[in-house]
Amino acid sequence: MKEIFDNTSPEMNPLHSLEQWDEDVLDRYPEPGQPAKAKEEFRNYDNPQRDTVREFYRLNHKYQTFDFVMEKRKEFLQFNRKEMPVWNAMEFLNTLVDDSDPDIDLDQLQHLLQTGEAIRHDGHPDWFVLTGFIHDMGKVLCLFGEPQWAVVGDTFPVGCKHSDKIVYPEFFDDNPDSKDERYNTKLGIYEEGCGLRNVHMSWGHDEYLYQITKDYLPEPALYMIRYHSFYAQHREHSYEHLMDDHDREMFEWVKKFNPYDLYSKSPKPPVLAELKPYYEDLIAKYLPKTIKL
Ligand SMILES: [Fe+2]
Ligand SMILES: [Fe+2]
Repeated sequence: MKEIFDNTSPEMNPLHSLEQWDEDVLDRYPEPGQPAKAKEEFRNYDNPQRDTVREFYRLNHKYQTFDFVMEKRKEFLQFNRKEMPVWNAMEFLNTLVDDSDPDIDLDQLQHLLQTGEAIRHDGHPDWFVLTGFIHDMGKVLCLFGEPQWAVVGDTFPVGCKHSDKIVYPEFFDDNPDSKDERYNTKLGIYEEGCGLRNVHMSWGHDEYLYQITKDYLPEPALYMIRYHSFYAQHREHSYEHLMDDHDREMFEWVKKFNPYDLYSKSPKPPVLAELKPYYEDLIAKYLPKTIKL
């Protein structure tokens, strides 16, 4: 039975901004040397900020089913919505404004520029810098009317048991897959060590951008894009049983990327106009003239 809901309703979009999810991840995985938030503080149910994030995860865990993922793949992997140069797609992404406090939040492009710049500062290869710059471009899904829980949030495999290492695992009780005997065993529809390329992940900006870029970027870049929100593996190592040796090798890159995503917020916002020529060149080097969304 299918539930009918209005994707754009406030009930479906509890976060004030998409960054609220990023901030929550940062609370869970603070920069080494920074104090972790006390558990009581983290689970303070009287905290309204916390309530919105909890509600966001409740919806994410309830609705991200195997069938939902199949439906979204069918819907979005036709790429029949827009065609434009990559830079324009980044500017399109930047039209995503939420009702967040403008004092604390950077716009989408600033987060991406800071990530790219931090990677460049550390002397990594240019495709790594480019990956940092575009890694969240898939969030344009929100501009196509998708609810927050189908765009951001920790990702996880569908078609097999949900790990209790995924944040708020109790909310999976409402996910019909957890009562479906095809999907609720450790391996579900998969085979031990089958490799993540054979595994379907929950739907969101990671998988969507991977599908857009998969023919153009080096493989480590594609792993970073596709699995950067898969905290249950790259931080918690709870899906080893689905991975093969190649995944393990590539996840070293995913792990290398994650701190740039989480910890690159600098107090001085980058100046877009100064950096644009450099990033335009990188885009031209690796990506086609236009991409289809
Ligand atoms: Fe992301
Ligand atoms: Fe990000």
